[in-house]
Amino acid sequence: MKTVSIDSSKQYNIHIERGLLKKAGSLISQVHPRCKAAIVTDDNVARLYLSQVSAGLENAGYSLCTLILPHGEHSKSLGVWTKVLQFLAENGLTKSDLVLALGGGVIGDVAGFAAGTYLREIPLVQLPTTLLAAIDSSVGGKTGIDLPQGKNLAGVFCQPELVICDTAALDTLTDHYFADGCAEGIKYGLLADKELFDAFARGVNRRDMDDIVARCVEIKRDFVQGDERDMGKRQMLNLGHTVGHAIEKLSGYSISHGHAVAMGMVVMCRAAYSLGYSRENCTPPLLQALDACHLPSACPYDAAALAKAALSDKKRRGDNLTLILPLRMGECCRETIPMKDLEGFIAAGLGER
Ligand SMILES: NC(=O)c1ccc[n+]([C@@H]2O[C@H](COP(=O)([O-])OP(=O)(O)OC[C@H]3O[C@@H](n4cnc5c(N)ncnc54)[C@H](O)[C@@H]3O)[C@@H](O)[C@H]2O)c1
Ligand SMILES: [Zn+2]
Repeated sequence: MKTVSIDSSKQYNIHIERGLLKKAGSLISQVHPRCKAAIVTDDNVARLYLSQVSAGLENAGYSLCTLILPHGEHSKSLGVWTKVLQFLAENGLTKSDLVLALGGGVIGDVAGFAAGTYLREIPLVQLPTTLLAAIDSSVGGKTGIDLPQGKNLAGVFCQPELVICDTAALDTLTDHYFADGCAEGIKYGLLADKELFDAFARGVNRRDMDDIVARCVEIKRDFVQGDERDMGKRQMLNLGHTVGHAIEKLSGYSISHGHAVAMGMVVMCRAAYSLGYSRENCTPPLLQALDACHLPSACPYDAAALAKAALSDKKRRGDNLTLILPLRMGECCRETIPMKDLEGFIAAGLGER
């Protein structure tokens, strides 16, 4: 078993190995005494993994209650958050009990937000079952829901007690969602680790992901540790995301997050090179890595539409915005530009000028 330790406002471990969901009960008992545990999951994940997680927890002496939500982004809503809070209250959970988020990023976000707000925070364990959740959303403590006005507009930081990542769960993901997670992995490579990038460019084997997941989590840890609240170096994790979020929004969320980030990274790479920031042209290897992971590279929107959508993003601060630019493979920088320059920047990234 691989273990990555995170030292933030809370110290916690991320355990990574095939078959860990069966051992969740005994792993949790090492960090949290027997108590009531509320498992929050979705219908797809429940069908595949709930019985093994429940059996392990009951054997370890936990008393369980389970809430199965519909799968999909619609579960990250005010209505579902309220439903989770009421479920915790009806089952009498106290501050010494546990919420277990068993699923992908949607479940991690909504169950995490409920754990972070119920009784002003009760303990949370993340059990990510998608690649995206394993390498990104289960680590770092951001939780939240969408509002009718936009994605992720309400949330809290809620650091987990423990993250249990069973890489065998990746076997049952659809190709689409596996590719979505790969986009974030390629991003970590471009940001900080050429070898990791090259592994994605060769094409990864989903049955042999432990080392790759662990490396991605270490990179995320290094950006999050010391900047838990996203005021400085953590912003580097937004590589490809300003344009990516704009693409998601313009598509009415029919283009999923990882696919949009893939296109957004291409725009940033091209712009950074053609405007003279980069020391090497990272676009050809990026295109190759995206292709190897069955991810798209061509953006279906023009610079004017993308800039307009991006400028309504909550991550904007004042009249400027911070972009993350690739300098060379494994090294990026933060560049603050006036908002009015964004459209020109994106145009350069699309090859429009
Ligand atoms: N909190 C953060 O830091 C953070 C970071 C990145 C993304 N996110 C959020 O994460 C969400 C996306 O997460 P996601 O891509 O994991 O989506 P998801 O949770 O919707 O999961 C994708 C689909 O796969 C299914 N599924 C999950 N695990 C499975 C498995 N092992 N086998 C088969 N099917 C499985 C789900 O039921 C769902 O249909 C977005 O809402 C995004 O905003 C949060
Ligand atoms: Zn992302």
